[in-house]
Amino acid sequence: MTEPADPLNAELLELALEAATRAGAFLRDGRPDDLGVAATKTSAIDVVTEMDIAAEKLITGLLTDRRPEDGLLGEEGASVEGTSGVEWVIDPIDGTVNYLYGLPSWAISIAARKDGETLVGVVHAPMRGEIFRAVRGEGAFVNDRRARVRPAADQALALVGTGFGYLAERKLQQAEVVRRLIPEVRDIRRGGSAAIDLCDVAAGRLDAYYERGLNPWDYAAGDLIAREAGALTGGRPGEPLSPALAIAAPPGLFERLQTRLDELGAWHD
Ligand code: IPD
Ligand code: CA
Repeated sequence: MTEPADPLNAELLELALEAATRAGAFLRDGRPDDLGVAATKTSAIDVVTEMDIAAEKLITGLLTDRRPEDGLLGEEGASVEGTSGVEWVIDPIDGTVNYLYGLPSWAISIAARKDGETLVGVVHAPMRGEIFRAVRGEGAFVNDRRARVRPAADQALALVGTGFGYLAERKLQQAEVVRRLIPEVRDIRRGGSAAIDLCDVAAGRLDAYYERGLNPWDYAAGDLIAREAGALTGGRPGEPLSPALAIAAPPGLFERLQTRLDELGAWHD
């Protein structure tokens, strides 16, 4: 992998990689056998562990130490305005339920954005031994290999990742969308980490991914990685990817799936 052309991007990438690698080692090696739930958020099944909180502190501590003028937005509460124009968007553990249960699909997601554009995205999945990274305009990589989406599949042959929220009412509508979509595609996967799902589209391991109800820390890095690997990303037709709806797929499949998900009401509860 060559060094990013822009010195700011090079600095942000190096820092994001260092923060993600350190947090990854901490989370992998330090997971207590008796790990429990420290707190709940939007519902009894939307959980936080002490490790989510400690990992976010580790990441924000390093970022603040190196670039004290930057803003911060983290899933576990980091919220700093900043004065440099650069804002870090951090999910210390995406896939917290997998981490809690000892399943391997969880990741650290770190993005740096400026003027509404994501410049750098890093998703580190320690149990897979993988670091996905992208710099805007410079392609996406998984470890040191270039990441490329699969050629667009027919929708009927597409392997489609998705996820579900933490609120019963939303899950019901999401299940209804899956009930209607599953006979029209190859199969559905529910991996449990939106950041990894987006990277799996980038690496050609899923044909497509969609989900309603994500937060910016779930998708900021994975969105850039998927786009830099050749995917289109967005929400409802004509709208960008957002908490309302996130879709990622190669051109050709993306438009078809976006239209179908719009018809099926994947954008509302
Ligand atoms: C969750 C994961 C999951 C997705 C949920 C997210 P968290 O993030 O990305 O795959 O379905 O919508 O909230 O809570 O594990 O950080
Ligand atoms: Ca998350």
